[in-house]
Amino acid sequence: MDLRLTEEQNMMRKMVRDFAETEIAPFVERMEAGEFPRDIIKKMAGLGLMGITSPEKYGGAEMDFLSYIIAIHELSKVSATVGVILSVHTSVCTNPILYFGTEEQKQKYVTKLASGEYLGAFCLTEPSSGSDAASLKSRAVKKDDHYIINGSKVFITNGGEADVYIVFALTNREEGSKGISAFIVEKGTPGLVIGKDEHKMGLYGSRTVQLTFEDMKVPVENLLGNEGEGFRIAMANLDVGRIGIAAQALGIADAAFEKSVEYAKERQQFGKPIAAQQGIGFKLADMATSVEGARLLVYQAAELRAKGEPCGKEASMAKLFASRAAVEVSTEAIQVFGGYGYTKEYPVERYFRDAKITEIYEGTSEIQRIVVSKHLLR
Ligand code: CAA
Repeated sequence: MDLRLTEEQNMMRKMVRDFAETEIAPFVERMEAGEFPRDIIKKMAGLGLMGITSPEKYGGAEMDFLSYIIAIHELSKVSATVGVILSVHTSVCTNPILYFGTEEQKQKYVTKLASGEYLGAFCLTEPSSGSDAASLKSRAVKKDDHYIINGSKVFITNGGEADVYIVFALTNREEGSKGISAFIVEKGTPGLVIGKDEHKMGLYGSRTVQLTFEDMKVPVENLLGNEGEGFRIAMANLDVGRIGIAAQALGIADAAFEKSVEYAKERQQFGKPIAAQQGIGFKLADMATSVEGARLLVYQAAELRAKGEPCGKEASMAKLFASRAAVEVSTEAIQVFGGYGYTKEYPVERYFRDAKITEIYEGTSEIQRIVVSKHLLR
């Protein structure tokens, strides 16, 4: 596989890197204080990032999938919060509408999601249904020209800020995973109740909320795909979405590694830079190897996706490996920084806190192993 980037992809990387360093880096402190980065999202919309892979006919930038992954990687090096906001908006909100929506749904929603006027969210997980996503209990009952949806969701990234939610609910309780349907739900829909914000270990600027549906009235034209097709829609988009989270993890690992090298070259102990001490030199070598391994797997999965080839196994491998790399490399970064690494004076403690969730959301590492092993045994 040829992993050399094209001129456009390199330009894309430079553009996003410059933007992240000049616009996002100064905003990190505010996000760490809990502020949702509305202004940053607006600026990202101005650069075409909110509709990066959406077709031009819906107002998108129509760039290839690898460019999208490069963008998530570069954004996440500076802020994993911004990385996940864009990943969820694109991979699991805009894309399901693009791939499974009607022309009217695309005209109505993708155009606004691509321009950044709307922000997207994805509502699959419930209090008693996490890894076992098919066991969800939210219920949608058709009544005249509406579905009435009741139930609750948890850990909804972008919840409370989003304008469009992809919601999964049972239209047929007897059919198991084949009784699940997907709906496009707009902010302000009667019965959509935004619940409590989760107080998380990291990703402070990203909102994660509970949602309750209390006789939520969704017009029949907002059914996404056919009745019973919801689980397939969720899984198909998670297959690809996982490459986005893998790129977020790669960004965190990459940043932790780069900051460690910088620091180890400057910090003197025993009369020389700590980078020249073998104990630290070996650590840096291991960290570099993890980052490079993650980069190859993430970019390989993205390249397959860009070519329209099957990539479910590679996406799960990339997420499994890159999320582990993020946790390991950020942990080692704190060790390289020593006592300073444990303080908020340096960003490595933030990388450490932000890294852990990449092993959990969009399918835990255990779920990625299930997906990979199912592919191997096929
Ligand atoms: N693509 C398309 N369809 C698929 C599919 C895929 N990758 N995987 C499964 N399906 C469909 C198939 O039609 C299958 O039916 P058939 O019998 O006809 O083949 C049906 O789904 C059921 O498949 P399984 O029996 O394999 O399903 P399962 O119940 O065993 O679950 C699982 C499989 C992989 C464990 C799945 O439940 C899963 O991925 N769990 C993790 C959930 C998850 O990732 N949640 C993330 C939440 S979103 C998030 O985190 C966003 C964020 O905030 C960042």
